[in-house]
Amino acid sequence: MSKHTLLSLFAIAFSSLVDAQGTSSALEPLASKHFTWPDIPFQVTGDNGGIRGPQAGFNQCNSTTENQQSECQTMFLNNLGDFCMWSSGQPDDTVGESEAREFAWCTAPGHGTRVIPPGAITGAQWLYAKNYLQVVGFLDQTQVNLDASDEGGELDPHGADEQGNPLGGIVFTNGFGMNSASFQQLASTGNFTGNQNYTQVIEWIDFIGSGMFCLKMCNPDDPNAAELCQHIYDEVGCNYNALANYGSINGTFEVCDSDDMTPPGVFVENGVTTTWFQPATGPVIPPYTTTIPSSSNCVTYQSSQLFAAAATDPAVATVTSSSASSSVTGSSGSGSSSKASGASGSTGTGTAGAAGNASGSIPSFQSPATPFVVAGFIVTVTTMLAMLA
Ligand SMILES: *[C@@H]1O[C@H](CO)[C@@H](O)[C@H](O)[C@H]1NC(C)=O
Ligand SMILES: *[C@@H]1O[C@H](CO)[C@@H](O)[C@H](O)[C@H]1NC(C)=O
Ligand SMILES: *[C@@H]1O[C@H](CO)[C@@H](O)[C@H](O)[C@H]1NC(C)=O
Ligand SMILES: *[C@@H]1O[C@H](CO)[C@@H](O)[C@H](O)[C@H]1NC(C)=O
Ligand SMILES: *[C@@H]1O[C@H](CO)[C@@H](O)[C@H](O)[C@H]1NC(C)=O
Repeated sequence: MSKHTLLSLFAIAFSSLVDAQGTSSALEPLASKHFTWPDIPFQVTGDNGGIRGPQAGFNQCNSTTENQQSECQTMFLNNLGDFCMWSSGQPDDTVGESEAREFAWCTAPGHGTRVIPPGAITGAQWLYAKNYLQVVGFLDQTQVNLDASDEGGELDPHGADEQGNPLGGIVFTNGFGMNSASFQQLASTGNFTGNQNYTQVIEWIDFIGSGMFCLKMCNPDDPNAAELCQHIYDEVGCNYNALANYGSINGTFEVCDSDDMTPPGVFVENGVTTTWFQPATGPVIPPYTTTIPSSSNCVTYQSSQLFAAAATDPAVATVTSSSASSSVTGSSGSGSSSKASGASGSTGTGTAGAAGNASGSIPSFQSPATPFVVAGFIVTVTTMLAMLA
């Protein structure tokens, strides 16, 4: 995140200086550290996190580390019934303050982590794209320790010092090779966590803030993984980094197959493909509107079905799950086909329309926490337009 750019640049300059004197060696980038589950060290980074270190938590997570104070920093993004996100370990925190020391919060027990209270997530969409997996949605972020007003930001395995946010955070999935149909089959068993054939995800992005989240995991077998999961567009939020029809997602739980999005920053104008780079200073105004990729085979689910295991987990038992299930039940039917408003390759109206308006709002928010101002505003506009329609 931009807030730490200067600090991190200093860290790099400092470590280079030290290198020149031969008293230290460059730190290995987090994204270069590859593991085969379950063969992972107690800590991936440990004390070697550079000027932002040491690592706040650990990576060997099991039933003894599973509780609501867990400091596990190994997360899983398996399917709509079993995924995690990074968030703070301390109540009323912000992403800007906590990004280096966040822990894994998962929708399902079984990963040695904190469990997201059932009902916290009020809507989500999982896309099986050709070369990535993506889950985006809406949540009461106070239930994962973020202040209600925090506009949040991006976590990814890079950062100016290449040590990642959080430091030492690693991601695994069993989701590559699955699709909407195989998920539907899995959902019929009610066991979302059984498959332990995990692959490490090397390039991923994780935005959370303003009551939204978006997570994208690019397939390491795809040569364009780094481009599809670009991590240099943190100021423009989910609407440019993880394309989805955000205006239609809150209140529903849906799984679709999808085409790949155009990589963030890349757009075609008058037949010429151009790459826009987010400026380091000044207003951040993308010169293009996004096109939500075509999706298909969309199936809706109920949150009570997806998050049943968390609902009976004693560690999170005090949380009222009934309110969440009921708010969702009305708008989704188990296993039924949805109209998939995210489908059909149309340009997202909210995204397209709000780009100009949202960028207009940016000058008054030139704080380090800008990223989600854009996303939050777009959603608001979209939601209002939807209500008027
Ligand atoms: C469980 O995780 C803890 C903390 O990482 C570790 O110390 C312990 O050895 C692990 N237990 C097993 C049985 O793997
Ligand atoms: C495990 O996952 C990998 C990567 O998705 C896949 O190629 C392989 O076939 C899977 N193995 C089994 C036994 O399912
Ligand atoms: C889910 O499936 C796995 C593997 O088949 C099994 O070990 C586990 O006990 C199952 N969990 C539940 C809750 O049924
Ligand atoms: C999503 O829906 C919930 C109610 O189901 C609501 O409380 C919340 O404000 C909505 N989030 C956004 C960002 O609109
Ligand atoms: C952008 O804002 C202007 C002025 O508030 C408004 O008239 C216009 O309808 C908005 N456009 C969209 C797409 O929301």
